[in-house]
Amino acid sequence: MQELEQLVNAAGAEFAACDDSAALENAKARYLGKSGSLTEQLKNLGKLAAAERAAAGARINEAKSAIEAALTARREALSQARLAAQLAAEALDVTLPGRGLGTGGLHPLSRALERLTAIFASMGFSVAEGPEIEDDFHNFTALNTPENHPARSMHDTFYVEGGRLLRTHTSPVQIRFMEEHAPPVKIIAPGRVYRVDSDATHSPMFHQIEGLWIDREVSFADLKGVVSEFLRKFFERDDLQVRFRPSFFPFTEPSAEIDMSFGDGWLEIAGSGQVHPNVLKQVGIDPQVWQGFAFGMGLERIAMLRYGISDLRLFFENDLRFLRQFN
Ligand code: PHE
Repeated sequence: MQELEQLVNAAGAEFAACDDSAALENAKARYLGKSGSLTEQLKNLGKLAAAERAAAGARINEAKSAIEAALTARREALSQARLAAQLAAEALDVTLPGRGLGTGGLHPLSRALERLTAIFASMGFSVAEGPEIEDDFHNFTALNTPENHPARSMHDTFYVEGGRLLRTHTSPVQIRFMEEHAPPVKIIAPGRVYRVDSDATHSPMFHQIEGLWIDREVSFADLKGVVSEFLRKFFERDDLQVRFRPSFFPFTEPSAEIDMSFGDGWLEIAGSGQVHPNVLKQVGIDPQVWQGFAFGMGLERIAMLRYGISDLRLFFENDLRFLRQFN
């Protein structure tokens, strides 16, 4: 009797000391298992006198129920504790403000290009494109720059496998467009160009916008009018001065650099000229009937001037602190 009560108390204490279910199951085995303390008591019943057996059996069963109840209670307590710990570990603070989705924005070069395209569209120019990996013919030869022509060394060219190259200017788009379209032609061709060059004002990849207008009577005066009108609209300054400075390009004659007034001085923003008769002949257009102008403008340059950007490399570093300022 005394012994059973001690057993129940000991089991209760031992269960309470278990703080995980593996320990608890081991403790259970010590009391209720095949050779557990309580099971031993049951086995010993047979040795008792028949008269005592029933009462002793009932007491043992009572003790067994008490131990089982303690076990169940401890199991539940442990599983409650496990759940509470898990909930605490996975807690979400639903009162925190949301992180939100970052709003995207246009790169300043894209903004400048959109603005430029809209202005030229208002003057009747449509947009043409060409490949960035070019062949020698379209990048040089068809542009009146035969092999060994000194003008080829004006460009530091990236060559790729198979004798092809990364276009050094957007002028090959002139050729590709006129190969496919009969005049009149009135296009701009924006895109990436590549040269072996890199410092604060030069990047090995940059953007140009080619302009090409061929019709029966398109003159150098039209070139001056179109480019001046574009620049005044782009920079929103009616008093902007534009200067055409004699220059040389193999594919234009006469040729001119275009400068715009900036502060006390001038900034060069484009090369230009009347399209050379040899270029028109090359694409099967009769230069006695058709004539016009072309220009190649630097997009980074005019974007820097419009947005007040001092270092060309900022465009290509993708620093969000820089890019966010434009959106
Ligand atoms: N392709 C010339 C350059 O990259 C610019 C240019 C274009 C000049 C069209 C004349 C006509 O320097």
